[in-house]
Amino acid sequence: MLPILLAVCMGALTLLLFVVWRVRTDGTWALWWHDNYLERLRDFTSGKSRPMRILQYVQNTAVQGDANSVISAVDSYCANVEWAMNVGDKKGEILDAVVLDVRPRWVLELGTYCGYSTMRIARLLPPGARLITLEMNHHYAQVAKQILGHAGLDSQLSPSPPSVPHSSTQGEQPVGGATHSSHSRWCLQEALIYTTLHCLQLPLQLFSRTSQNPLATSAPKSQEETAERQTTMRNSTCKVDLLVGASSALIPQLKKKFDMDKFDLVFIDHWKTSYLPDTKLLEECDLLASGTVLLADNVTCPGAPEYLHYVRNSPRYKSLYFPSQLEYLRVEDGMEKSVFLG
Ligand SMILES: C[S@@+](CC[C@H](N)C(=O)[O-])C[C@H]1O[C@@H](n2cnc3c(N)ncnc32)[C@H](O)[C@@H]1O
Repeated sequence: MLPILLAVCMGALTLLLFVVWRVRTDGTWALWWHDNYLERLRDFTSGKSRPMRILQYVQNTAVQGDANSVISAVDSYCANVEWAMNVGDKKGEILDAVVLDVRPRWVLELGTYCGYSTMRIARLLPPGARLITLEMNHHYAQVAKQILGHAGLDSQLSPSPPSVPHSSTQGEQPVGGATHSSHSRWCLQEALIYTTLHCLQLPLQLFSRTSQNPLATSAPKSQEETAERQTTMRNSTCKVDLLVGASSALIPQLKKKFDMDKFDLVFIDHWKTSYLPDTKLLEECDLLASGTVLLADNVTCPGAPEYLHYVRNSPRYKSLYFPSQLEYLRVEDGMEKSVFLG
């Protein structure tokens, strides 16, 4: 009986280690594990959505009014506690460098989620610049507004969310600060899940190739410039407009709504199948000028092959790939910077 039991245990352990190894090295497995399995498990145990858990962590740990502190808090949570689909710290440095290089006056972001990349962009914008970010999920947009507020960024959410919130994690939820008891319960549940998962992953971490410390990534080349711009931001009037709705419906309204002409920078980071149709829509709506930079995230994982084929082969774009890693994981990913030539 004992040998059979031992064999079953060994088999189960081997299977578990195989799954953990695949999750840590393969994008498809990683996204399935973090986005489907773990997110649902944590939603169930905490009774809250992942964006709400991120917001609570930010409210509990980040310095109010300090965008850098909020960015670090989100990175720390997503690297150490639970993964989330922010652009992340590594690709975030590429985003920072592009923003600093372009020095845009008008920026469009497709896909806000919790406002992580919105913060990264906004903190580097010159005074008077405008950042419009589009998010189709009301609940995510409400969380983003609160996270941006905690970072000291002035954001306008439109249209206003409906007054009766849903309880589903996919729909809208009331977004507020954590009470003491809910916070303690949340901490206990998170600690249990965190400890279990990390015990399972420990053997793999011992053999990992790179440091797992999320805050130990290399500093951006332009660190001094970044710091200088952040000081500027504190005194600037950089405003974020957070529009709730599908990009395909909102893009055609932008010119009129904001009395604007063209964007200088477009950060594309919503559902991957929308990259190409929305890029063509931006062209059709005459929102791209000669020199406008499109920066697309996740072009390797999960990938946007039609989009890549288009920008790399169209004579209207000059395109360059920046290799990197999928947010908070050691899975290959990259960003594509494409300059519109007119
Ligand atoms: C990868 S997340 C964005 C992450 C964010 N840019 C960051 O780095 O912090 C993608 C987001 O795009 C939103 N989204 C997907 N398709 C969209 C669409 N067609 N219009 C507006 N938002 C969309 C999703 O709801 C999701 O919140």
